[in-house]
Amino acid sequence: MKKTILITGAGSGIGLDTAFALAARQHRVIATTIDEAQSLTLKAMALTKGLSLEVFKLDITSAQDREKILSLELDVLINNAGVGESGSLAEVDIDRIRHVFEVNLFGTLALTQLALRGMIQRQRGTVLLVSSIAGRIPMPFLMPYSMSKFALSAAGAGLRAELQQLRCGVHVALIEPGAIHTGFNQAMTESKYAWMGKQSYFAAHVARLKAEEKRTFQFLEAKTTESIVSQIVKAAEAKKPKLRYVAPWIQGFGVRLARIFGV
Ligand SMILES: NC(=O)c1ccc[n+]([C@@H]2O[C@H](COP(=O)([O-])OP(=O)(O)OC[C@H]3O[C@@H](n4cnc5c(N)ncnc54)[C@H](OP(=O)(O)O)[C@@H]3O)[C@@H](O)[C@H]2O)c1
Repeated sequence: MKKTILITGAGSGIGLDTAFALAARQHRVIATTIDEAQSLTLKAMALTKGLSLEVFKLDITSAQDREKILSLELDVLINNAGVGESGSLAEVDIDRIRHVFEVNLFGTLALTQLALRGMIQRQRGTVLLVSSIAGRIPMPFLMPYSMSKFALSAAGAGLRAELQQLRCGVHVALIEPGAIHTGFNQAMTESKYAWMGKQSYFAAHVARLKAEEKRTFQFLEAKTTESIVSQIVKAAEAKKPKLRYVAPWIQGFGVRLARIFGV
């Protein structure tokens, strides 16, 4: 059955590839972007690919933008928009953490609440929350981001259990990507070096940290979004989606092991 699916943060990376994959499967895809410039580029890309996408600006931290979805009868909301932020919790400016939570948790939840109004009334719908395996195990020096994804994963599991009590036909599922090469991880790990000066507790560790981060992501990152996009498509099309969709599977397996051994 073809569905009406809205996705946030579709101007790049996983969101963009998911929007195209869903459109190629003949769903009605409403691909939203953080700004008008990305909307224009996305429309042009869709045209070149011969795919039909409806595109508009939806900054999830803007209440005015969020209200745009009230006129839509959504079958699926894919909360993909997200930001990264790094730095040690010992010294990172609290406002940087606040901003990550504003986007990754509060903006996402506020948009979800608006989508749920129609879904609960119509007694059907699916909300997908793109969290992260960084929301399952703490990631040193990525904690501003990791904490926001822990909170989002907890929110998703809790909301799912609450809606199950209503038996209203509305499902909630978590998408938990591992490291995927979209440029997101590089921007996130770099962000801390803009403010970590000589006064940083970790000033003497910067060269080592940078080298380790480069090595880790070069080794870990999946080179394409294919594995996670196919999981998102699966969750969006499922009659009763399961709680978690994780990809690449090997990274998901690694996280399970790490949790068993108490990381
Ligand atoms: N890549 C990975 O390894 C990885 C792993 C686990 C989870 N994830 C999650 O997957 C999702 C997509 O990430 P990605 O790798 O595809 O990176 P990405 O290309 O940076 O995608 C994130 C998108 O969200 C947009 N965005 C940021 N703030 C927004 C806001 N307030 N309103 C609307 N859109 C906003 C970004 O816009 P800008 O272009 O302006 O930044 C960007 O287009 C994120 O939630 C991320 O946390 C990624």
